[in-house]
Amino acid sequence: MLQGKSIVLGVSGGIAVYKVVELLRLLTKAGADVHVIMSKSAQEFVTPLTFQALSGNPVHTDLFSLYQEQEIDHISLADRADLFVLAPATANLVGKIAQGLADDLLTTSIMATKAPVLIVPAMNSNMYENPVYQRNQESLTDYGYHILEPISGSLACGWVGKGKLPDPVMIFDAAISVLTPKDLVGCHLLVTAGPTQEEIDPVRYISNYSSGKMGFAIAAAAQQRGAQVTLIAGPTNLTVPVGVRCFPIFSAEEMRSAVFDQVESVDVVIKAAAVADYRPVNRASQKMKKTADQSTLHLEKNHDILAELGQQKEGRVLVGFAAETERLMAHAAEKLQNKNLDLIVANDITCEGAGFDVDTNIVRLLHADGRVEELELMSKFEVAQQLLDRVKVLWKAKQQ
Ligand code: PMT
Repeated sequence: MLQGKSIVLGVSGGIAVYKVVELLRLLTKAGADVHVIMSKSAQEFVTPLTFQALSGNPVHTDLFSLYQEQEIDHISLADRADLFVLAPATANLVGKIAQGLADDLLTTSIMATKAPVLIVPAMNSNMYENPVYQRNQESLTDYGYHILEPISGSLACGWVGKGKLPDPVMIFDAAISVLTPKDLVGCHLLVTAGPTQEEIDPVRYISNYSSGKMGFAIAAAAQQRGAQVTLIAGPTNLTVPVGVRCFPIFSAEEMRSAVFDQVESVDVVIKAAAVADYRPVNRASQKMKKTADQSTLHLEKNHDILAELGQQKEGRVLVGFAAETERLMAHAAEKLQNKNLDLIVANDITCEGAGFDVDTNIVRLLHADGRVEELELMSKFEVAQQLLDRVKVLWKAKQQ
């Protein structure tokens, strides 16, 4: 998505400037050609040299620099951008843009650009809540600027509240989102992700190796394509993608309740979660003690959530996953049919680069009409995009 894209990264002065160094690294790693403009105060926090070394391009700081104006003036910087990202955006910068002031290289470039602009404010929480600031930010939204809201937490100034710059990965995802065509607007998609944990006693549980990466990639990609996304996730270390509503759960039965609470308004369900098939019949209230040489744990079946959804489909698109260690196609085809699915994504988890807790996957897509598509090794995010291309067709067909 960002390969070959020209991004102007505008940096204004705030303690969060150091985080933007990491954002720059993510953007260049994704293949973007990044040109940095630093305000005067931004240079008090991190030197232009750092941004220059990481972007591989000269850093622009001065509206009246003859050298820079000969080489590349602020208008051509504005013209060449596919996207402008302002991070961190101070209250001062937001105020200036809202009032149409352009008195330095950064503000003149923003004023001159026709590219989409993503603004990521960061400041003291009292400044952020100030009605004057809030009005300025609202004006920017009304003018069509994209705003990624700050997050809550403890701020460098000692206050705790809303005003922190979001993590670089969140800003990176938001930048992709701004550039992504919105072909899933109007679609409400429910994604499940990660493992479930079935408690044995207060210190032990039954689970599996699912990291949630596959499901989170689908949620992020769908949100970026304009879908309304609800994510129901077992325990993972992943950050919920910006704009996605997430319900964390632990057990399969909790996942089932969350799914059925949400499913009424949903157009598409994608079940990427690795749900435990069984749970202990009894959960011990105290830590179980080591006594006999052998011990037996009695298990009972969890509800098969996807199979239940298949029995009450009501015009929804249903997509399942199958992680198999043998007879991939036969097992996946059986699940496709038994659970009344439109599509199943089969991954052979014995292949290197596929399945649990890796960033890539190798999948086959089995359609209800008998078609089978084999996709090569690709990132889970690319698998998500490929899957959503098929889901879009199925969703549109159900609407007719
Ligand atoms: O999370 P990652 O580390 O990125 O790994 C991704 C993944 C390997 C977990 C994912 O790609 C995947 O394959 N998920 C499905 C795992 C699986 O084997 O599911 P299953 O064969 O047990 O179930 C088939 C389908 O029914 C799945 O969509 C599952 O969510 C659903 N199911 C299963 C059991 C159950 N009780 N309820 C369900 O809804």
